[in-house]
Amino acid sequence: MINQNAPIGVFDSGVGGLTVVKEIMHQIPNERIVYFGDTARVPYGSKSKETVTKFSRQIVRFLQMQNVKAIVVACNTASAYALDEIEKETDIPMIGVVKPGAKVASEVTGNGKIGIIGTEGTIASGIYSKYIKELNDKAEVIGRSCPLFVPLVEEGLLQDPVTDEIAKRYLAELIDIDIDTLVLGCTHYPLIRETVGRVMGDKVTLVNPAYETARELKELLEEKNLLNEEPAKLGDDKYRFFVSDASEKFKRFANSIIKYGILSAKTINIEEY
Ligand code: DGL
Repeated sequence: MINQNAPIGVFDSGVGGLTVVKEIMHQIPNERIVYFGDTARVPYGSKSKETVTKFSRQIVRFLQMQNVKAIVVACNTASAYALDEIEKETDIPMIGVVKPGAKVASEVTGNGKIGIIGTEGTIASGIYSKYIKELNDKAEVIGRSCPLFVPLVEEGLLQDPVTDEIAKRYLAELIDIDIDTLVLGCTHYPLIRETVGRVMGDKVTLVNPAYETARELKELLEEKNLLNEEPAKLGDDKYRFFVSDASEKFKRFANSIIKYGILSAKTINIEEY
């Protein structure tokens, strides 16, 4: 029997998944969370399916040891490459961020032209296009990988002329083909949402899959009778953060995104799992 009071496990290659954590904290505030950011091995976006699957499997094992009741793959690359395989290997309910993002995009588009920005892996997998077309077969889905966005975010260059310049280059072709919807298909990208929005202009709706992911997580927990009825008290163990490297840097960054004093982030050796 899974305990309703158990935490939700959330993971990403680094700080990007915190954009999903923020939404979960907001929409289901009674829940405990254990977060793992694979800061030693970021980025995932340029790695192969095999490598991302191996890393994801290790993280799932670590989260299982934390007795989580559900797992959120808060990384588009891992959702694209590894989710199908790793969810079969455990009984713990698992959701990723791609399906929820695809659902919102297919609902909000008016002209059916949807842009996806993400890592090389996410774009190469074609997964957004696949899910969007299942929901709206007339949609035209155009993917663009933006490999420099993740290091820019990890370096904290959220508002910076360098980020502006790179965004203009990456996004130019999406502007030219007149998309009306753009999916932020990497959990790091909501952190530079302002820059992306400015470059794309007001006519393009930006979709952040985090909101819908948290909503679907809540539904999943309800369905499985796993919602935490007793509000967990804000204390040391309501929200726990683990990384594979550079915990101080992670902690500073996390505290700038989540308005909750993150007291500690613990470094673990993920290769042991
Ligand atoms: N934040 C991740 C994603 O959503 C991965 C970024 C990376 O490690 O390349 O795809």
